[in-house]
This record gives sequence, C-alpha cells and structure tokens, in this order.
Amino acid sequence: MVTYLIATTAWGVGSVLWVEVVRDFYHVLSHYWPPLYRLHAWHHRVFRPNLTAVNDTIYRQAQWRNDVPECLFMLLLGLFVWVIAHAIAPEQQWAALAGSLYTLTFLFGAIARGCGFEWANELTDLTHQAGPFLTPPSRWSVNRPYHWRHHFDNQKAYYCGTLTLVDKLMGTALSLKGKTIAVTGASGTLGRSLLQHLHACGAKVIALTSKEPTVTITVNGESLPVKTLTWQVGKESELAADLEKVDILILNHGINVQGSRTAEAITLSYEINTFSSWRLMELFFSTVRTNEDVATKEVWVNTSEAEVSPAFSPLYELSKRELGDLVTLRRLDAPCVVRKLILGPFKSNLNPIGVMSADKVAKQIVNLATRDVRNIIVTINPLTFLAFPIKELCVSTYFKLFSRKAANLTTALPQSETLPGDAATSSKAG
Ligand SMILES: NC(=O)c1ccc[n+]([C@@H]2O[C@H](COP(=O)([O-])OP(=O)(O)OC[C@H]3O[C@@H](n4cnc5c(N)ncnc54)[C@H](OP(=O)(O)O)[C@@H]3O)[C@@H](O)[C@H]2O)c1
Repeated sequence: MVTYLIATTAWGVGSVLWVEVVRDFYHVLSHYWPPLYRLHAWHHRVFRPNLTAVNDTIYRQAQWRNDVPECLFMLLLGLFVWVIAHAIAPEQQWAALAGSLYTLTFLFGAIARGCGFEWANELTDLTHQAGPFLTPPSRWSVNRPYHWRHHFDNQKAYYCGTLTLVDKLMGTALSLKGKTIAVTGASGTLGRSLLQHLHACGAKVIALTSKEPTVTITVNGESLPVKTLTWQVGKESELAADLEKVDILILNHGINVQGSRTAEAITLSYEINTFSSWRLMELFFSTVRTNEDVATKEVWVNTSEAEVSPAFSPLYELSKRELGDLVTLRRLDAPCVVRKLILGPFKSNLNPIGVMSADKVAKQIVNLATRDVRNIIVTINPLTFLAFPIKELCVSTYFKLFSRKAANLTTALPQSETLPGDAATSSKAG
C-alpha cells in the first residue's frame, strides 16, 4: 500500500515537474529557433516596462501565437508521460495524467485571455500584473520581479515560467551582461579576480578601493584599467551618488589582524570587517526605489567560512561572524537580493598560506551567482556545506521569530516611485 502511494505520488508530481521543464524548454527554443521566435516575439511586444499591455489586440494575439501553442506543446509531451506509464506502470497511469490536467488549466487560461475575457488576465496571467514589486525576485518560484527581468533586463536569461529550476541548471537565473557591478577591496587578490571574471561576463565593473588611484585587470594578457573610485572606512556616505547607478554591490574588503587582541585591533577589525560593510549595505538599500531596482539590484557580502569554522584568528572570526549575523538579520526583509559569499582559505595578501587560488574562487562565485545561489559556498572543507546551511537556517529562524518585519516596501518607497508608470521611464531594455 505504502509503495503504491509513493509510486502514485512520484508519477503525479513527476508528470507536473516534467511539463514545467517542457514549458521552459519551449521558451528557450523560442529564443533560439527563428520560426518559433516569430511567434514568441508577440509576447515580447505586449508589455511596457510597467507591465501594462501596449494594447488589447496585441495582448490577445500574443495568447494565440505564443501561450496557446506553448500549452499545446506541454500537453503533447505531458501525454507522452502517460503513454510511458501505461506501458511500464499501468497501475499508476492515471496519476501520470496529472501533468496534462495541470497543463489544461494553463491552456484554458490562455484561450480565455485570447478571447478577451478580462477576468482571465487578472486570474491567470500572474507574472505580468502591473503594480509595485513588493519583494525581490524569488529563489524557487517565478514571481513578477523574476519574470520582469526576462522582458527588460536580458531576454536571453530568466526563461522559467513557474519554477526556477531550469534557469538554475542553465546558469540563466542571473544575467550579469551589461550590469554595473562595484567591488570593494578591489585592489586585493580576490577583488581583482572578481573584477576580471565579471568583466568577462559582460558586466561594467567599478573598482572601489581605499588605496590605488587606478585598479587594473588583465584581459587577454593585457593590462586594462577599470573605472576606479576611492573610498574610506567611516566615509561610506560619500559613495551615495555613485551607488545610485550601481546594479550589484560586492562587499569584499577585509583585514585580518592575526593574533592581535589590543583595543586598536578590535576597533579596526569591527570597523573594517563589520560596520563599514553594514553601512555600505544600508546605503545601497536606500538606492532601491523603483520596480526596476527591486528586480535588478543586489548586494553580495563576503562574510567568509569563519562564520562557521575557526580561522585561527579570533578577531577575524568575531568580526566576520558579526557581519554574517547582521546580513542574516537584514536580509529577512531587504528590498533587493542579498547574497553571502562563504569562502574557504585561498592564497592572498590577507592569507598567504591559503590553499585555493583566488582566480578559481572568483570563477566559482560568478558561476554560482548566475544560478541564483544565495549562499555561495566555495571551500575545500566539506563540513561547511553542512554546517553553514544549518547555522543559517537556525539563526534566521530565531531572528524572524524575535524581531519585527520592516515597514512594507511600498510604504517605504516614495509614492511617485511605486507608480507602475515609473519603471517605464527608467528601464534599460524597454
Ligand atoms: N584569503 C582568504 O583565505 C579568505 C577566506 C575567506 C574570506 N576572505 C575574505 O575575502 C575578502 C578579500 O580578501 P583577500 O583574501 O583577497 O585579501 P586582500 O588581498 O588583502 O584584499 C583585501 C582588500 O581589502 C581592502 N582593505 C584592506 N584594508 C582596508 C581598509 N582599511 N579600508 C578599506 N578597504 C580595505 C584592500 O583593498 P583596497 O586597497 O582596494 O581597498 C585589500 O586589498 C576579505 O573580506 C576576506 O576577509 C578571505
């Protein structure tokens, strides 16, 4: 009996997941195969950046040319699962029809929208509803900010329609192309490697440094100067105007006072490793105002593996753990995506005996970010892959239970910024 139930559930859930994968595959194909793109282009013609339809006729045409064929394709390949179940597991064949039934709800929605029934637009076209974005792009399911980026950030990314799995597997869950990305600690070992890899992905990089007038990276064996801004700990607010134009801020600066435990070492460690990063993060949050900002802005914070394991440097651990906890607390209701970088020991000025190479670490950070990994772990210590998620879950649950939610994003934003028409004037791709 138990086996029967498990097998039935597996066929049912599996068939639904299957049609979702088919939907995303059809979407990807639509962007690479010209005959399909001619139909799919109607879908891209429909919406303004504020997600209102350009006009009713194009909206309805887009349903017949894109959404209905997509559903028919899902239905066809969904029935294929039923045929397989019929052949190899006849007892579960009816469960295998779940994916097809699920698809029928989308097909009827698309037909109703094509026929011009207004109720169908609101009830069934959930990722294209106009209005302020209340949360950043979600991790596992496609919400409006997630899908908005497919229309107005990069049409060759963010393909998923309901679940984000296929984008995660394809590395299209975050597009770095054309993004303005600023990195602190830019003249350091990891800072420079990050700039290099982000540049290779098509990002416009900005070096934020406390020392060098011009930071250079090496591209094809040649030295390339990048846009460099100098800043100082304690004077973070001077970066306010520059951060307005930044899409992704990577907080990567840090020091390690090694065995020191003087009052001066404590101040330095907390000021540089903890509080300057926290101040910059808050400053960056204050630049998130429009729908476009909510959908595209991000902060990545390099907190280190020291969050969960010894770094044989007490003040380094204390200050990095503090930063890690502050990020966990603030990202519970941050206005944009916040990622943590949990890195093991790599060779650098800060850690001359590190075992990994900064270049490989930077490459893996960028790779995992494009798969929308929110806690990016790069280390040789297998325990961290277990210890960090458990620690993060426990601490964030505790913080959620014993602290209050920030005011709703919409109430925090000036009214003019939340009006649907706003993004229309500021969108890049629109
Ligand atoms: N190396 C490791 O094993 C390891 C492991 C986990 C995490 N991390 C973290 O990775 C990040 C990068 O470190 P790294 O290993 O690449 O070391 P690094 O080469 O020493 O780079 C650190 C950079 O931080 C910036 N910085 C230092 N003091 C500063 C100050 N007073 N004010 C502002 N910026 C300051 C400097 O860049 P500018 O001169 O450009 O400002 C410096 O080059 C750090 O946050 C570190 O904690 C390192």
